[in-house]
Amino acid sequence: MRIFSGIQPTGSKHLGNYIGAIRQYVEGQDDGDPAIYCIVDLHAITVPWDPAELRSNVHDTTALLLAAGLAPERCLLFRQSDVREHSELTWLLAALTAWGDLNRMHQFKEKSGKQRELVSAGLFFYPVLQAADVLAYRADTVPVGEDQRQHIELMREIARRFNERFGETLVEPEHRIPEIGARIMDLQEPANKMSTTGGTEQGTVLVLDEPEVVTKKIKSAVTDSGSELRRGPDKQGITNLIDVMAVARGVTQEQVESEFDGSGYGDFKGAVAEAVVEFLAPVRQRYQEIRPDEQALEDALGAGAEKARAIAAETLVEVRAAMGIGSAA
Ligand code: AMP
Ligand code: TRP
Repeated sequence: MRIFSGIQPTGSKHLGNYIGAIRQYVEGQDDGDPAIYCIVDLHAITVPWDPAELRSNVHDTTALLLAAGLAPERCLLFRQSDVREHSELTWLLAALTAWGDLNRMHQFKEKSGKQRELVSAGLFFYPVLQAADVLAYRADTVPVGEDQRQHIELMREIARRFNERFGETLVEPEHRIPEIGARIMDLQEPANKMSTTGGTEQGTVLVLDEPEVVTKKIKSAVTDSGSELRRGPDKQGITNLIDVMAVARGVTQEQVESEFDGSGYGDFKGAVAEAVVEFLAPVRQRYQEIRPDEQALEDALGAGAEKARAIAAETLVEVRAAMGIGSAA
């Protein structure tokens, strides 16, 4: 099984990213043949960015993934822009992508609504680049959080259309969305997903937050006026904390409910804070050791890119030939 996933380079990955995605990357690295993880700097330029900051954010995210447990000898970790095949395949796949489908993408609607100056064509094209990321490697499985479901559906559609028109060349990938924690909610506004761009600062726990900050954020999480410790549609705040607790402790949601049956919300929040601090502490510590050595980070990314390029280049040869692009071999 070939695994592929991408993650945006930012200096501030949050608990939702960690639980929804990064945890799955680490778990998948030995099942992948290979497992391929890409830091998507080309996606990052679909909204305003600062060039120097972007480079530094790639290093931040690389260090975080290594600190979380990705091992360059067990998976393939690279920077998207180092493998130019992604850009070329984006254009080729654009010829098979329906404008109407792109126009229906929730993430585009949400992000374009927030732009003050420019809604770039790049933002509209974002899902085509994402399709190219995955299809270039003929990946079978794409570990992501719930918010990426529609993007994966679109890449399946593009692969299907390609294969129908030009013969079996690309693989229709399946998403892998975790059973618990596919959508971690903002602690202050539990109707919205946790997010560094759209959420509240106090309701967003960063993987690298200091333990006291994590504790404060979780203890001040918004709950409901009841007192029962159970999941339910009318109890979004508590449901979210139960999910977080289950993942941090590696148990089921039912186990959390029965263990804390009868406890007050205050005590429960204290216990969740403790569990999350313990869950994130080793990552934060390793990050501090790894992040300063930028040459080592570049070396790891460079080695990953070389292996990635070899796979993507092969796909591109077949795609170009099938589409009638370039001279006949
Ligand atoms: P991004 O930082 O936008 O590149 O997202 C990286 C990964 O984190 C993607 O697979 C997302 O689906 C996942 N993700 C983002 N926000 C959340 C959240 N609140 N809960 C669970 N997963 C999330
Ligand atoms: N769009 C994804 C996100 O915001 C990141 C991403 C880019 C990705 N390319 C990908 C995810 C390919 C999975 C596969 O989280």
